Amino acid sequence: MTQRKQIIAGNWKMNGTLSETANLINGLKQKIISSSLNREVVLCPPFTSLILANELIKDTPFKLGAQNVHFEAKGAYTGEVSAEMLKEAGCKYVIIGHSERRAYFQEDDAFINKKVKKTIATGLTVILCVGETLEEREKGITNQVVKAQLTGSLQNVSEKELENIIIAYEPVWAIGTGKTATPEQANEVHEYIRAVISGGYSAAAAERLIIQYGGSVKPDNAKELLSMPHIDGALVGGASLKADDFAGIVLA
Ligand code: 13P
Repeated sequence: MTQRKQIIAGNWKMNGTLSETANLINGLKQKIISSSLNREVVLCPPFTSLILANELIKDTPFKLGAQNVHFEAKGAYTGEVSAEMLKEAGCKYVIIGHSERRAYFQEDDAFINKKVKKTIATGLTVILCVGETLEEREKGITNQVVKAQLTGSLQNVSEKELENIIIAYEPVWAIGTGKTATPEQANEVHEYIRAVISGGYSAAAAERLIIQYGGSVKPDNAKELLSMPHIDGALVGGASLKADDFAGIVLA
C-alpha cells in the first residue's frame, strides 16, 4: 500500500490583516519546528497577505496557498486574480470549490472545473472541496452529491493531472459549527471518494489520492480523525487562526 503524505492546510478565509498575518506566522514558526514535522503544512491567507506570508515562511517547511483563483490568465475580470499571479506570489496550492464559494458566490461544478484545469496547467496543486449540506445528509444522498461534485469538477482532468489535485471532504454542516463529522463518518465518505476515483480513473490513482477532512477540526479531535485509514490530512478553518490550535493540529 502506498504511504500517502498527510497535509494540513489552514484556510484563513477572510481573516488576516498584515499585522495579524505576521503575528500568526511568527507564532507558528516558534511552535512548529521543522525537524519534528512529518506532515506538510500549508497556509492559505487572504490575497492581500500572500506576499508578506511568502516572505515570512522562507526557511520554514510551510507552503503557501490561495483561497480562490480565476480561470483566465489575465484580462477584463474586475476583482479576480489569476493562477499565474498566485504562482508569482509564491503559492503552491489553491483551494477551489469551497462550499462558501459555492453557496455565496454561486460557483457550480462547471465553473469550478475551469479553475481546476487552469490551476493545474499553471503548475499549482489544487485543493478541491466537496461536501454535502445537512439536508442532503438527512435525505441520505451524501454519496450522490459528492460523486456529482467530483465528476463535474474533474471533467476532462487526466489521470496525470489528478496527481496535482487533493480532495478536501468538507461536510457543510460541520463547517464553523463545532459539529465535527465522527472519524467513522468522515472515513466512510473518504473511502467512497476513493472508490469514485478508482472507477473513473484507476485503483492506483485512487490509492495515491490525498483526501483531507475539513469541518471543525480542532487540536482535541485531530489525532483521531488523522489516524483513520482514508483521512490524509485536514483543511482547517477557525482553528488555523490561532497559533496554539493550528500547531496542536499539525503536531497531533
Ligand atoms: P472550520 O474549521 O472553521 O469548521 O472551517 C472548515 C473549513 O471550511 C476549511 O476550509
